Amino acid sequence: MSIKEIAQRSRSYRRFDNSYAVAEAVLTDVIDVARYAPSARNAQTIKYLIVTDKSECAAVFGTLKWAGYLKEWDGPEPDERPAAYVIMLHDSDLGAYNAIDTGLCAELINLALNERGLGCCMIGAFDKPRLTAISGIAANLEPLLVLAVGKPTEKVVVEPMRDGEIRYWRDERQTHHVPKRSLDEIILKDSRNDIPVAQR
Ligand SMILES: Cc1cc2nc3c(=O)[nH]c(=O)nc-3n(C[C@H](O)[C@H](O)[C@H](O)COP(=O)(O)O)c2cc1C
Repeated sequence: MSIKEIAQRSRSYRRFDNSYAVAEAVLTDVIDVARYAPSARNAQTIKYLIVTDKSECAAVFGTLKWAGYLKEWDGPEPDERPAAYVIMLHDSDLGAYNAIDTGLCAELINLALNERGLGCCMIGAFDKPRLTAISGIAANLEPLLVLAVGKPTEKVVVEPMRDGEIRYWRDERQTHHVPKRSLDEIILKDSRNDIPVAQR
């Protein structure tokens, strides 16, 4: 499968088969993929906490906010909840926080999960003090992003964005639709300004 095909399939999934246990070894393996991400100053300040224990998963779940645009939906039902989490943390002992590093590592993990028949949703909206407390992490560690992981059970489709509408939505069959901007819109051509490059 091409990288483009894997990227197309690697959507944010929010409903999973909770009975499908995600092995810790698989999570270790996908984190190993993230080790190859580029890193500003090569500081590699991100650490990972793997959560697979049922009661710990329940505690992490309680700190998360799901799908802000789906006002009618309260998040996954118990049997749809993620079977595991990877909590990405910044280790301040290793250097300054870099958001780009976080994104690069998170997406490599997302792609690697998809390659293994799994999926995730990156969750940035979480109760940080509570997650910090229940994780029992040291003072130098700060949670950045929670990857909610499992065997996806929902259908997610990408569609062209219309009229600048960025909100994802669900149809009556509960298929999740994600609008994406077109290539024409995002690649700048003649729209920069009228001044020739040589005269700027
Ligand atoms: C940094 C970041 C934070 C996110 N935080 C949340 C979140 O708190 N809750 C949620 O349900 N989805 C969250 N998402 C998922 C986005 O909503 C999702 O990426 C977007 O709707 C596009 O869908 P796609 O990933 O399938 O392309 C986050 C994604 C990123 C990259």
